[in-house]
Amino acid sequence: MCGIIGVVGTPDAPDALDTLLEGLARLEYRGYDSAGVALVRPGETWRARTASGTESVRALVEVCAQAPPGFASGIGHTRWATHGAPEAENAHPHLDCTGRIAIIHNGIIENHAELRAGLVERGHTLSSRTDSEVLAHLIEEARRAGADLVEAMRQSLGRVRGAFAVAVVDATEPDVIVAARRVSPLIVGTAPGRTYLASDVPAILDRASAFYAVDDDQVVRLGPAGFSAVDLEGAPVRLRQLAITWDLETAEKGGFEDFMTKEIEEQPAALANTLLDRRRGDGTITFDELRVADDELLEVRRVVIVATGTSHHAALVAKYALERWARLTTEVDIASEYRYRDPVVEVGTLVIGVSQSGETIDTIQAVREARRRGARVVAVTNVVDSSLAREADAVLYTRAGLEVSVASTKSFVAQVAALEMLALRLAQLRGTLLAVDVEAHVRGLGAVGTLVAAALTRRDVVTDVAKQLVGARDFFYLGRHVGLPTAMEGALKLKELTYLHAEGYPGGELKHGPLALIEPGVVVVAVATDPVMYDKMLSNLAEVKARGATLVVVATDDDEAIDAVADYVLRVPATEPLFSPMVDVVPLQLFAYAMARGLGRNVDRPRNLAKTVTVE
Ligand code: M6R
Repeated sequence: MCGIIGVVGTPDAPDALDTLLEGLARLEYRGYDSAGVALVRPGETWRARTASGTESVRALVEVCAQAPPGFASGIGHTRWATHGAPEAENAHPHLDCTGRIAIIHNGIIENHAELRAGLVERGHTLSSRTDSEVLAHLIEEARRAGADLVEAMRQSLGRVRGAFAVAVVDATEPDVIVAARRVSPLIVGTAPGRTYLASDVPAILDRASAFYAVDDDQVVRLGPAGFSAVDLEGAPVRLRQLAITWDLETAEKGGFEDFMTKEIEEQPAALANTLLDRRRGDGTITFDELRVADDELLEVRRVVIVATGTSHHAALVAKYALERWARLTTEVDIASEYRYRDPVVEVGTLVIGVSQSGETIDTIQAVREARRRGARVVAVTNVVDSSLAREADAVLYTRAGLEVSVASTKSFVAQVAALEMLALRLAQLRGTLLAVDVEAHVRGLGAVGTLVAAALTRRDVVTDVAKQLVGARDFFYLGRHVGLPTAMEGALKLKELTYLHAEGYPGGELKHGPLALIEPGVVVVAVATDPVMYDKMLSNLAEVKARGATLVVVATDDDEAIDAVADYVLRVPATEPLFSPMVDVVPLQLFAYAMARGLGRNVDRPRNLAKTVTVE
């Protein structure tokens, strides 16, 4: 989510600042809300930070015009906020109490609250509201106890839970950067006289001549002449060399052909990040940023969710979870409709606004209307401090990372996961599920990322099916239960990417009208992964098959019967039905993508559409 860069060189070539600022500018495509650098030389750490949204790096360049000359080493960071608003004091690098040690961090420190409390008790002063700052102070403590920088990093990481790509500099060891990784990406680059580190290749693409991947739980020590690495126990390890022949544009897309592919592939990570640090050791669910007291949540009698597009489909999935698990009547409304229909807001109505960008005007206006009528409003959004977040009483962040492609993909799975966690929290409070069942569902949610990753490995099969169907012009997507929002999402992806007619429809409703449209040439894509609804869905499929439609069916790996019915089967791993939309949507995303590519469409920027719709 955040961007990281670092360089360590020799004092005779003190150009660290240029390297850092240029690298940060090259990370611009990831989006960020603040930026900063820390430069080190013997006895001195110089830091600058700015928080001017997408102008942050430009503002940083201006501030850095005041930097004293002569630094050969330093670290830089562009932040995409997760903990703490996008303000200068929350921007990285963070300093320890001495002002000598500076750290940058990408990821989430799950146990930051307890670490912070301990540090404060031991006399530290923390100046930000981030989870990251604790690392600077933990390293400070280890250094004070005599550890060198590598040892201090190892000891500190031994105390944190969560995900990290972290780098530290210390003015008492100015020609060294120590960095480490768990989950969040980190690479090292080498060139004569300088060694670099970065979260993403573009930051150092034209500076380094060789690239190496830091793997999970490896700690790297960078010096001007190269690097060495150890694992968390201190045993030496070798970094994997990467063969990178990308140009800048390919590098920005993580080596993929387009942002949509990158974002589809990022779904397991988006899920992991969204679920991270939301489960306490005692099995209860917690949301750091959801500032609604348990008492207030207990007063909720009815939930209304407002959203548009893909976010609306995620909300439709959440309805099933809120009703099944928390036994709460839940209504889902298209945001642009809600506001104009004189909605009823009774005491105990919780309105949830769901929006990836947090800037969709329809959703903002809908929650504004709900608040005006006295509802408590929770925002579920991917962008910290977005307009929607500011409009709401409380916020729950999805942590999917920046989504560039107009077609939403990873934000859908992250929204479903976040909303389902919220449903489980409500169930826990209301006592509508047994503690063991909550535990089992939370564990099940945690495993969905692996199933999504498995579904992603089947891209070639989906692409082959799309090749066979590239001439088709009419598509119906059928689903039942949570398969319906999944089907609707599949249809939305197909229509916005290919400009073909595609309609998501309840399987059981087809015979009440649309069946008249089914004839040879029409493609019916069905989601048939729910065992409870399976027989009913097969009857619906028989109806369309009898009228000559071509049948593409999303079915589970263990479904042998489906081969006799479907013309093409897109296989997915089986999972608990309420989790299945996050898995079943994958082949539908891949199918829409392959169809669009087959038709020569621009998958990242479909015609007539904007990523964020800020007009009514
Ligand atoms: O940023 P939001 O989640 O509020 O955006 C909502 C819709 O505009 C968005 O999901 C849109 O439908 C996408 N193009 C779908 O892929």
